[in-house]
Amino acid sequence: MGRETDIQRIIELRDQIREHNYRYYVLDDPIIDDAEYDQLMRELIDLETKYPELISPDSPTQRIGHSVVSSFTPVEHQVPLLSLSNAFNQQELVEFCRRVQRWAEEPVEYVCELKFDGLAVSLNYEQGIFVQGSTRGDGYTGEDITQNLRTIPAVPLRLRKAVDLDARGEVFMSKQAYADLNRERELNGESLFANPRNAAAGSIRQLDPKVTAGRHLDIFIYGIGVTSTQTITTHMESLSWMKQLGLKVNPYVQKCRTIEQIWSFIEKWTARRDSLPFAIDGIVVKVNRLSIQAKLGATAKSPRWAIAYKFPAEQGISQVLDIQVNVGRTGAVTPLAILTPTLIQGSTVSRASLHNEDYVKAKDIRIGDYVVVQKAGDVIPEIVRSLPERRSGREEIFSMPKTCPACNQPISRAAGEAVTRCLNQKCPAQKYERLIHFTSRGAMDIEGMGPAVIQQLLDASLVETAADIYKLRHDQLINLERFGPKSTDNLLAAIEKSKNRSLANLIFALGIRLVGEEAARELAEHFGTMEKLRNVNYEQLTKINTIGEKIARSVVDFFSDSENNRLIDELAELGVNMKQKQSEKTLKLQGLTFVVTGKLELFSRKQIENVLRNLGADVTSSVSSKTDYVIVGEKPGSKFDKAQQLGVNILNEQQFVDFLRKMGAVY
Ligand code: IVH
Repeated sequence: MGRETDIQRIIELRDQIREHNYRYYVLDDPIIDDAEYDQLMRELIDLETKYPELISPDSPTQRIGHSVVSSFTPVEHQVPLLSLSNAFNQQELVEFCRRVQRWAEEPVEYVCELKFDGLAVSLNYEQGIFVQGSTRGDGYTGEDITQNLRTIPAVPLRLRKAVDLDARGEVFMSKQAYADLNRERELNGESLFANPRNAAAGSIRQLDPKVTAGRHLDIFIYGIGVTSTQTITTHMESLSWMKQLGLKVNPYVQKCRTIEQIWSFIEKWTARRDSLPFAIDGIVVKVNRLSIQAKLGATAKSPRWAIAYKFPAEQGISQVLDIQVNVGRTGAVTPLAILTPTLIQGSTVSRASLHNEDYVKAKDIRIGDYVVVQKAGDVIPEIVRSLPERRSGREEIFSMPKTCPACNQPISRAAGEAVTRCLNQKCPAQKYERLIHFTSRGAMDIEGMGPAVIQQLLDASLVETAADIYKLRHDQLINLERFGPKSTDNLLAAIEKSKNRSLANLIFALGIRLVGEEAARELAEHFGTMEKLRNVNYEQLTKINTIGEKIARSVVDFFSDSENNRLIDELAELGVNMKQKQSEKTLKLQGLTFVVTGKLELFSRKQIENVLRNLGADVTSSVSSKTDYVIVGEKPGSKFDKAQQLGVNILNEQQFVDFLRKMGAVY
């Protein structure tokens, strides 16, 4: 295909991808599935790889890839990011409405919105291009977090119209992403985030955008700071205008005319806040008409035309009946408080993780204690504090057992780590948890093989490792309780089907510490086969954009264990797919022709040719007009001259390495 056609296609693809992003993130109405979307993205990456000079910062491919910073630069806000004054009850709201009414001197319409529990940011667009994003800071000066905001998929890198706009919104982490992140941190012995807000704040202020990118942040836009457009007269209009521009605007809004309507909006969301996928800490009430807002003005701290109704923090008192210890799939032994059932925010809490030994000690939580319980960030129950004044003297101080409750082997805590672990690979609790993980959705997804069936199989000594699942026979299963001919056939069919899961699923299923679904996908994409992945070294891994040092270490550790390797060999022999399917594979240099000339330093000639071919490139020996790139080493000779004559792109070795890295390819 000619350059002109390719350029046309690049433009077309970028527009299409932006449109799909808009439909997905803003309208919540996608018209293509993930696979189709991935295909468009892959095609664009391929074309941009062919023409790296055409990559622009607002291309949908350019979200991550910027370098680590050592600190954040201060940014002065053109219009300050004020905070809101609070109302804690109906009376204070009534007073707010009266005050507004008095100043407005005309009937006032309000807009009620959810108050997201994250952190305020400002997104600056110039001529429709996202040029800078910043935190609130003290309201007047924030910090430049542009590179981190670019990693949030719901932040458009380019608006649908070339306007200047300073949009204001809240960056947050969903309850699910928060729970996943803390689970991972717990396994890794890292300190936990107390709630989704802290997690979002900690994630957006990362010096390395790669880390932010892995944190699944989201955003809702709720207001305008500055804009070049003058025709908007109400807050509602500004929201729908921003939505048209492609921003993910807060959809939970309602116009209200009376205090009764405002109150019923508050009551509705007080009752429903638990069912929302993200945390809210109140309701914001704003004056709709901008002319009235202007008339009311602001104090140095907050506008007079808006108020935040804050939900009361709900806590309960419960008694610690027992402190048990659980063993996870990686052997982490965690204490768990068993509580008298207590109703908090609409659901019954009867257990709370105590995370580790130090946590129990620091909070002085004893068996038999009365404790204050709340839902951290509205999601996960936690013990706020114990109530020593209510002790009877019969309470027991908890101490970590010396041996694993499941296998009786000694458990240990490495120096400097908070987590205590059972190191026995054969520990039945770990075995059980590993199998649950292996068969779960996102992993090998074996329908019908849930925790109860796994327990049955373990009890009957039919399985030990994941490989044993693929050796199960009809006559073995049918003898199990609650198994009939039909359910046996179904389970065997589901097991058979799982052999064909993608390499990413399999990598995730192996339960490598810190390797979640996303990292697994990334590893599968990069290495293409299990064989390559298991021979990889630490340096190769850390070159991948989204793989951090800890994950890299964990992957290397996993594959240096002989038991793990034996398991993989067995799975392969039993017919489990070990390759990235061709359709999933991104051959990043597909369609490009390379010539290598001169003496190289970093690679041998054979190595560089293998690298290129593995990425789908053609390697030829002579330079012609069909050559896309010539890689030159020392003393290149006539091929170099020819390349210059023909105007072919020339890369020295270092430039070639940078080029690969820019495309997210490793080597
Ligand atoms: S409007 C000038 N609307 O609450 C008024 N704020 O103290 C600007 N927040 O840090 C705020 N949801 O980030 C507004 N729907 C919403 C909001 C919201 C959350 C945050 C905001 C600010 C704090 C107010």
